[in-house]
Formats: sequence, C-alpha cells, structure tokens
Amino acid sequence: MAYDIATIPGDGIGVEVVEAARPLLELSADDAGCAIEWTEYDWGTERYLETGGMMPEDGLDRLADHDAILLGAVGHPDVPDHVTLRGLMLPIRKTFDQQICKRPAVLYEGVESPLRGYDSESDDGDIDFVVFRENTEGEYADVGGRAHVGFDHEVAVQSAVYTRTGTEVIVRAAFEEAKRREQRVTNVTKSNAQAYGMVMWDEIVEEVAAEFPDVTVDRLLVDAASMDLIRRPDEFDVIVASNLFGDILTDIGAIVTGSMGLAPSANINREGAYPSMFEPVHGSAPDIEGEGVANPLATVLSGAMLFEHLDERDAADSLHRAVEEQLADPEAPRTPDLGGDGTTADVITDLRDRL
Ligand code: NAD
Ligand code: IPM
Ligand code: MN
Repeated sequence: MAYDIATIPGDGIGVEVVEAARPLLELSADDAGCAIEWTEYDWGTERYLETGGMMPEDGLDRLADHDAILLGAVGHPDVPDHVTLRGLMLPIRKTFDQQICKRPAVLYEGVESPLRGYDSESDDGDIDFVVFRENTEGEYADVGGRAHVGFDHEVAVQSAVYTRTGTEVIVRAAFEEAKRREQRVTNVTKSNAQAYGMVMWDEIVEEVAAEFPDVTVDRLLVDAASMDLIRRPDEFDVIVASNLFGDILTDIGAIVTGSMGLAPSANINREGAYPSMFEPVHGSAPDIEGEGVANPLATVLSGAMLFEHLDERDAADSLHRAVEEQLADPEAPRTPDLGGDGTTADVITDLRDRL
C-alpha cells in the first residue's frame, strides 16, 4: 500500500523538524510493508512575504485528496500571528472538519520532568494522559468583529460558539478513548463563569457519560485543572476540553512530561471525508530557529500518530519503540531542551540506527 501524504513544513523549526522526520517515516513504512509518497507544499510566511498569500488560492483543494497531512509549524516574527495562522493552519483544521484534536502527554523512561518526584525511577511518578481538544469551534470560532476602529469607543467582539454536534463529537471521542485506556474522563470546564456555552458543554458530557457506564467522569474547572496538572498529573487519564482550554492544557502537558519538543498531536476528521493532519504541539520557535537543535521527536511521534490513523500499526509501533529506546538510553544523543548537547541530526541518525 502506498500513501499519498502532503507535507507543509511551514515556518521556523517547522521546516527543520519535518525535513528531519521524513526519512524516518519512510523507513518505518518500508519495514511495515507500505510506502509513502510525499507531496511537499512550501507554503508559509516566506511565501506570504513574497506573494501576499500563505498558500495559493486553491491550496485547500490541493490538499483535499491526500491521505493525510504532516505539518511543521506556522508563525514568523515579521508578520502578526493572526495573519499567518488564519492564512494557513487554522483553515485546514476547519475546512477539513478536523473536529477531534488528540494530544497525548507521556513521561517517557529516561526523561526528567521539571516536577519533583516525577521520573522513571519513582513508582508513582508515571504521567500518561491524553487531551481531547475540541478543534473547530468554541473560542476559535472566528465569529466577531471590530467597529469604530481608531475612536475612543472602538469595540472588539470575539464570540465563542459551541454546537451540540461539535461538542458531542469531541466528548464521545474522549469516552471511546477512555474505554481503551483506564476508563476515566476528566471534563475540563468553566461553567461557573460561562453560563451558556460551558453549561451546555457540561450537560452534553453528562448525557454522553450515560452511554458509558463503565467510565468514571470527573469535572474540573479549568483553573483548578491547570493546578492539578502540576500537582498530580499522574492521576489523569483522558481529559476533554474546549478548543482554547485544550490548547493551554496541552502546553502544560508537554512541559510536565519533559519538553515541548516531545509532544505530538493529531487533528482528526472523523468520517474520513477529508484528510486528517498531524503536527507537533509546539510552534515555529524563532528563538532556536536555524541552530540545528530543535527536538524532532514531537514530529516523529506525530508521524506515529499518522500511521496509527492509517491503521499501519507496525510502522507506528516501530517509531514508538525507537523513540522510547532512545530516551531510555543515557548514552543516546538528546537535544538541549532535554538537557543534552545533541543536534536535530544526531537524534535522527541515532533513531535511524535503532529502526
Ligand atoms: P513555541 O512552541 O514555538 O516555543 C515555545 C518554547 O519552546 C521556545 O522556547 C522554544 O524554543 C521551545 N520549543 C518549542 N519546540 C521545540 C522543539 N521542537 N525543540 C526544542 N525546543 C522547542 O511557542 P511560541 O514561542 O509561543 O510561538 C512561536 C510561534 O509559533 C508563534 O508565531 C506562534 O503563533 C506559533 N505557533 C504555531 C503553532 C503551530 O503551527 N502548530 C503552535 C504554537 C505556536
Ligand atoms: C497549537 C497552536 C495553535 C492553536 C495556534 C498557533 C493557533 O498553539 O496548535 O497548539 O492555538 O491551536
Ligand atoms: Mn498551542
């Protein structure tokens, strides 16, 4: 089987980590008896600065027929983020109805958490949870506007939109995942302050929970959840959250499990009518761009999620195994975010040997 995968390396270290990860994905596909045919789209802020468009007018049409998309990151210090992200990455999530954003946070053996007592040596220091983030609406609905611009009475309205179907999809996906895991869902909400959207959200969680009698469900307000992700991250299994809350909580998840450079992500179109997109949780990291030290593992693990989505388990497993082995090996190269002095290329070469 040959898969037709689109890559959008994008900006900054997005380019570096996608270029680095691609040969490994090819290798693991090859070992698993499948193949990848890449179509690379050099879309991003450099293109915007030259042509005024982050991608061509028919960009979304060109992506639509691929089996999946691997994205690096989007964002550039010379252009405001709301221009670049609304020109490239956010339209893909929305147009391709990628309602489910799945973001695992795992503390791997050999990786040090900044939290005291959390490492592979301690018995109860195990962090392994997954956030199901609603991905196409909520606080990111892009509904609103500005008026009286330039006057003292200038106004900006940014509305959050929660649909019953959108909420049901993400909540159900979280419960289904919990059935495959430890049967626990934490609903992260803010229904104490947001009496419309978040109250409906909570009601839908209760309704869906009734379909899953074996799954226990807890409810946490997002402020308390942020605290508990630091205080007792080992106790979470599956978290379900709105678009913005999920965004914030997954940066916490990334850092308590060692680094932004390790956190992968899947943006899933449930019906398969459109391609799903896989990308690291991190951004374009202008602070380390061009230094050759970006950690490529988040992208490699996103590649593993891509293979899982295509039902190519062997390819996904071999990538996972190689990453786990590397992290557990004190002699293996690691990038500075993990306390090492290795380069992106060192990490990839070592992984290739392990594959
Ligand atoms: P960031 O994730 O790019 O960087 C945050 C910190 O983590 C930086 O110190 C960076 O050096 C470090 N870091 C991130 N990824 C790393 C990696 N692979 N290896 C080692 N260190 C890594 O977040 P930011 O600085 O807030 O955003 C930079 C730009 O990226 C902005 O334009 C933002 O809008 C954009 N962004 C894009 C995406 C995306 O495309 N999916 C995600 C987040 C941020
Ligand atoms: C992420 C990013 C994006 C988001 C930004 C760049 C719009 O932070 O994928 O986590 O908020 O979804
Ligand atoms: Mn984010």
